[in-house]
Amino acid sequence: MREPGTQTATSPGKAILFGEHAVVYGFPAVSLAVDLPTMVSVRRRPGTDWTLDGSPEGFQRIPYLVEAARSVGAEGIDVSIRSSLPRASGLGSSAAVTCGLLALLSKTGPGDLGTLAKLAYSAEFAAQGVGSPADTSTLCAGGIVSIGGGGYGKSLWEIAPRENRGPWKVDRLPDPGWKWVVAYTGLPKQTGDVVSAVGRKVGAGASSTVEQIGALAERGIAALFKGDRAEVGKLMNENHGLLVELGVSNPRIEEIVEALRPQTLGVKITGAGRGGSLLALPRSGEEAAVARAFAKAGTVPFVVSISPVGVRVAPPSVTSAGAASPGRSAS
Ligand code: MEV
Repeated sequence: MREPGTQTATSPGKAILFGEHAVVYGFPAVSLAVDLPTMVSVRRRPGTDWTLDGSPEGFQRIPYLVEAARSVGAEGIDVSIRSSLPRASGLGSSAAVTCGLLALLSKTGPGDLGTLAKLAYSAEFAAQGVGSPADTSTLCAGGIVSIGGGGYGKSLWEIAPRENRGPWKVDRLPDPGWKWVVAYTGLPKQTGDVVSAVGRKVGAGASSTVEQIGALAERGIAALFKGDRAEVGKLMNENHGLLVELGVSNPRIEEIVEALRPQTLGVKITGAGRGGSLLALPRSGEEAAVARAFAKAGTVPFVVSISPVGVRVAPPSVTSAGAASPGRSAS
């Protein structure tokens, strides 16, 4: 039972379809808001500490919470988090916590999603020290969006440059209505470390690979506008190859990708890589079979649809499906 005075924000999860890593340098990426919700609840308790489930130490252990609360000068709050995402799966759990808390505590809240996206990126950057606004803007916008580049679809907002990178325009792209499969490898993501390692590689001459990823994302955007499922899949496979070149795969990920290739139109790392999750585009109607193949390869699969809305403050009913469950495997 929720305690009186508690407010809850619900945020979708995210999966990057094209352009991870390259987006950090301002090249375009395409990102999906997926129906794997995370709920952040807040009870205001002025004059007390910031706590997570009653624990000040627990709150301090989550830098995203600390930076989000600090950025809006929050008074005493008790926070609780429930998520259908596996922890550290690279499916947007940190950004969901950041966006959810700020939707509840910032002045404009979810009424002005552009302002919320900017605030959330600042808090996430302060917590992580590197990275693009891809995750936070996707979770604020919902649906399918491009980040970076710009001029591809309806313009939503622009995130200002940071440390000589960006700006990032955020545009709404069409949702062709397909189902996707994401699969957690079981290897926790390490976004900050992997983004920094790629940064060193780009500095040492891998900049043409990130440029190629950016160009591929633009072809992916065109394919999405046409609803060309086979082309989107083919480009996912090409994008995975470029991520391998960037050094963000590993033998375990390659083993899973090899097992899934024949069964999918496209399969790739989604997010930072070296762990976290994979994203596959199944042939129409083959979602459950692809999820089974992922499970057989030792991963935790989820068949997902696009969440048309981003973060919102509307306490879901206690019985809302999936929202309060610890995990939802499609297998
Ligand atoms: C994380 O979801 C995707 C990366 O491009 C990092 C970022 O954009 O901040 C690897």
